[in-house]
Amino acid sequence: MSAGVPARTHRIAVIPGDGTGPEVIREGLKVLEAVRALEGFAVEIETFDLGGERFLRTGETLPDDELERLRRVDAIYLGAVGHPEVKPGILERELLLRLRFELDQYVNLRPVIRYPGVRTLIPSHGEGDVDFVVVRENSEGLYTGAGGFHRKGTPYEVAVQESINTRHGVERIVRYAFELARERRRKLTLVHKTNVLTYAGDLYQRVVDELAAEYPDVATDYVHVDAACIYFLEQPSRFDVIVTDNMFGDIITDLGAVIQGGMGIAAGANINPQGISMFEPIGGTAPDHVGKGTINPLAAIGALQMMLRSLGEGAAASRVDAGIRFACSKMHSMRAGEMGYTTSEVGDLVVEGATT
Ligand code: IPM
Ligand code: MN
Repeated sequence: MSAGVPARTHRIAVIPGDGTGPEVIREGLKVLEAVRALEGFAVEIETFDLGGERFLRTGETLPDDELERLRRVDAIYLGAVGHPEVKPGILERELLLRLRFELDQYVNLRPVIRYPGVRTLIPSHGEGDVDFVVVRENSEGLYTGAGGFHRKGTPYEVAVQESINTRHGVERIVRYAFELARERRRKLTLVHKTNVLTYAGDLYQRVVDELAAEYPDVATDYVHVDAACIYFLEQPSRFDVIVTDNMFGDIITDLGAVIQGGMGIAAGANINPQGISMFEPIGGTAPDHVGKGTINPLAAIGALQMMLRSLGEGAAASRVDAGIRFACSKMHSMRAGEMGYTTSEVGDLVVEGATT
C-alpha cells in the first residue's frame, strides 16, 4: 500500500464480559492482530466494561449512552456474560438479550461443524458427517419476555410465558435460511413442534411452504425438534441448513456443540444483515476454569472468523479457518482442561496455522 493511503478500517466493540470471557477474547484479539497485519487492514477497538462484575460494582447492566456507542461500531465481539452472584435473568435479559433485540440481530447463526481430527462423544460420526448450520430466530418466540404472574406467591399462582411469532419475524428468518441454503448444499430443514405448537408451528410451516416456491432449487423438509435431537446423534449428515425458532434453536445448538467436540469450539453470530452484528462463543462464563489457562479459545476464535467474513475480510477469515483447523489437528480434546495445551498456546497454534 502506498504511503498516505489509509488502510480500510473496521471499528470493533469488544465486550470481554465475565468469567473466562476475557481469556478467550484475548486469544481472539491475538489472532485478529496477526491476520490483520498480513491482510493489510486496520481495526479500531473500543473495549466496553459490561457484565456481572460491572453490575455488582455499579448496578448498571447496559447504560443508554453505552448502547448508543455500540450503535456506531461496525461489529461487536463478545466473550461471555453471567456471574454466579447475580440472580439469573438480570444480565441475560438486560444485557445480552437487550443487545440482540435493540440492534435487531434477528438471525442467530450457529454453524455445527466437526473439524478434521476432532474427537467427540459420538464415535460413529465419520469425517465430514457433521457440517450444517442452525439458523435460529433471535428476536421473538419465547424470548420477548411477554407474560407475567397472576396471584404470585399464592396457591393459585399462574405464570404465563408467551411465545410471540410474527409473520414479519418468521418470514425474514426463513428467507435468510433459504438464501443461506442456496450458498450451501441447497437443503433446508424446518425444525419445530408442529404437532403440539399448532399455531406457531403452523405459521412457520406455511411460511416455509410459501417461500419454497421462490426457491425451487432448494429442497425442504421438516423434522420435529425431539426427533432432530436423535438425528443430531444418529444421522447428522441429513442436515444442511436448519431453520428454527428462538427456544428450540437455543436448545439444539447445545447438542450441536456436543457433536462438534464441545462448547469449546462452538461459535455463533447474532446478525442484523442491514446493521450491526455481534459475534460470540455460544458457551458461558465457565466459572470453574477462570484464571487457570484451561479454557478453549477456539469458539471465540471461530466467532472472530465469522466477524471477519461479515466485515468483508474473506481472506483474513480463511486464514483464521486454516488456523483453527491446524489447532484442531494438534489438540487432544476440545474440552476445557483436556486440550493438551493452555488457552494461550491454543491461540498461538491458531496464529501459526493462520500465518504460514
Ligand atoms: C445462548 C445463551 C443465551 C440464550 C442466554 C445466556 C440468554 O444460552 O446464547 O445460547 O438463551 O440465548
Ligand atoms: Mn444457549
